[in-house]
Amino acid sequence: MQIPFLDLKAQHASVKDEILPQWEEILNTAGFIGGKHVAGLEQELAEACEVKRCVAVSNGTDALQFIFEALALKPGDEVIVPVNTFIATSEAVTHAGGRVVFVDMLPDTYNIDPACAEAAITPKTKGIVPVHLYGQMADMDSVLDIAKRHNLWVVEDAAQAHLAEYKGRKAGTMGVATEFSFYPGKNMGACGDAGAIVTNDSSLADTIAMARDHGSAKKYCHDFEGHNGRCDAIQAAALRVKLKHLPAWNESRRRNAGKYIELLSGTEGIVLPAVRQDCLPVWHLFVIQVDNRDAVADALKERGVATGLHYPVPLHLQKAYAHLGLSKGAFPVAERYAERLLSLPMFPELTEEQIAYVCESLKATVKK
Ligand SMILES: Cc1ncc(COP(=O)(O)O)c(C=O)c1O
Repeated sequence: MQIPFLDLKAQHASVKDEILPQWEEILNTAGFIGGKHVAGLEQELAEACEVKRCVAVSNGTDALQFIFEALALKPGDEVIVPVNTFIATSEAVTHAGGRVVFVDMLPDTYNIDPACAEAAITPKTKGIVPVHLYGQMADMDSVLDIAKRHNLWVVEDAAQAHLAEYKGRKAGTMGVATEFSFYPGKNMGACGDAGAIVTNDSSLADTIAMARDHGSAKKYCHDFEGHNGRCDAIQAAALRVKLKHLPAWNESRRRNAGKYIELLSGTEGIVLPAVRQDCLPVWHLFVIQVDNRDAVADALKERGVATGLHYPVPLHLQKAYAHLGLSKGAFPVAERYAERLLSLPMFPELTEEQIAYVCESLKATVKK
């Protein structure tokens, strides 16, 4: 049996008939920039996330950069970022003029370790960026408490956590602003690149809306130098269709995760992901720990099971951050887990039969 890591073709087969008429209308009217689909997506996403405002933009990386710029980062300002995330989180801090301060992760949920974040605070620290990694939210009570005590802002990176919940509150409702990515493989992915910012701060939303459009709210009136960072109508129309299906797709991901947990629990040599009881994860990824991870991944590949690594090299050990002078040993949890974590196939259309095959293959492999 061949099991892909992700099957976007299956997803699009189910929504193609809803998307194509919208795209045809856009082609016929040539309304590619702005318009009803972008405005509609912003309104519908704000409602789904239970926040006041949403600004749709070009991608998640730009979304983060626009937030940090709107928060007026100045050279030398420090922003605390977990070391086990995609580089976009830290890149955006640097591009907005700030200085990245990496911290280690928690060994159970793989999210930012609040104690490490607090220990990294200096007089130059401006904010903390919890990343809701793999679809499970970070320990927001602790992060928010630290931020409050030290007068810092919190920006949520919810690129992997569309509609995830923490104590009944949606991702995007707790930070001063939150970024979403709609990279195609995300729980809600565009048919290309797109992203969004959600916030309850209207003035911040207005600034970001201008930043994505050359610092302008009115054609040819530029209050500041911004960017070309708009979300186009073709992406917005597809995302509006997908947003209607997102709750059901997330539910299917939860069902799939439940099946994996049922079939794999108690297996010697496999550590299953920890689920916080007060969280409703959306399982962007299903990540386990195994010894000899690369050998296990190779053996699974031979049996037709595709897997992923999120992430094989912690950011402080990337060449891009060599200038920070952080060597091996700086973040022991992230470094150890980078060698052990393995992402199994996870997408809403995954069948019970496919999950059973992945689990059988995995059990046979770790036994060897
Ligand atoms: C945690 C995280 N943050 C930010 C991003 C950036 O999103 P985009 O690829 O849309 O720029 C991603 C996407 O891969 C991500 O996984």
